Amino acid sequence: KQEESIRPQRFADYIGQKDLKDVLDIAIKAAKSRGEVLDHLLLYGPPGLGKTTMAMILASEMGVNYKITSAPALERPRDIAGLLVNLKPGDILFVDEIHRLSRMTEEILYPAMEDYRLDITIGKGTSSRIRSVPLSKFTLVGATTRVGALTSPLRDRFGLVQKLRFYEVDELSLIVLRSAQLLQTPVTEDGATEIARRSRGTPRIANRLLKRVRDYAEVKSSGEITGSVAAEALQLFQVDPCGLDWTDRKMLSVIIEQFNGGPVGLETIAAATGEDSQTIEEVYEPYLMQIGYLSRTPRGRVATKAAYKHLDFKPPNEQLSLM
Ligand code: ADE
Repeated sequence: KQEESIRPQRFADYIGQKDLKDVLDIAIKAAKSRGEVLDHLLLYGPPGLGKTTMAMILASEMGVNYKITSAPALERPRDIAGLLVNLKPGDILFVDEIHRLSRMTEEILYPAMEDYRLDITIGKGTSSRIRSVPLSKFTLVGATTRVGALTSPLRDRFGLVQKLRFYEVDELSLIVLRSAQLLQTPVTEDGATEIARRSRGTPRIANRLLKRVRDYAEVKSSGEITGSVAAEALQLFQVDPCGLDWTDRKMLSVIIEQFNGGPVGLETIAAATGEDSQTIEEVYEPYLMQIGYLSRTPRGRVATKAAYKHLDFKPPNEQLSLM
């Protein structure tokens, strides 16, 4: 699959997240030299920043197998038990959306993570007993967009807890250049930068926009992605020069036009945009806060002066000074 060939396979090909790479590089080297398995690792941060990719790279750098699952697929105790008993020494088990584990699954994970032991309850009521099965030493890599939603016993069992940050434009530019090369699409530096600027600090979005711009360039011009071709294409796809899409702009304009800049409750914003509140909170808000267009206060969301300016509204204090 093309997706898989774009994903970097080695540390050396993974652009950005320098702090994370430095920490993991040390952990990998130390584990390897002691002949031990890597500590359990929790990766958190907004979607699309490379948590899954990083887990796959860890497995290949450690030379171990990699199994991927997600919390919603682990509803029943036997789902997780089946995965755990089949792990080989050193294997990496990647659990996406780990904040959504059921309580029973989570309780099976505690002894598995801590002592590499699976405790199975046999029978019911007063006659039930616990049988313990030894497991291979393995590494659990958990990923979540909401680290605050993890229970503390689960969070405390990760030896490494690392945050992924939004990427800088120059990092995203390099990612676009690399992906374009793999897709055999000609792109100028300006073209790559134009896509990077509109990618909300997120490689997944950069790669998605690259494919849309490639289509546009092939149909509407010579096929080469230049700065102006990228800008035209992205304007057509309603991605503005800051990378904001219809929902971002709607969120901000509702706060500004209907609520005087806020504070506005999350549910009100969700209703006005037709997105569910979790998507607003985990996907849209983190980037708007990162670029300083939105702030969260105890009483609700507030649009900043920069947001007024970006959307061509008169800043609130200019209105005041006219009164
Ligand atoms: N593709 C997606 N994310 C990437 C990254 N961080 N480095 C290189 N290529 C990528």
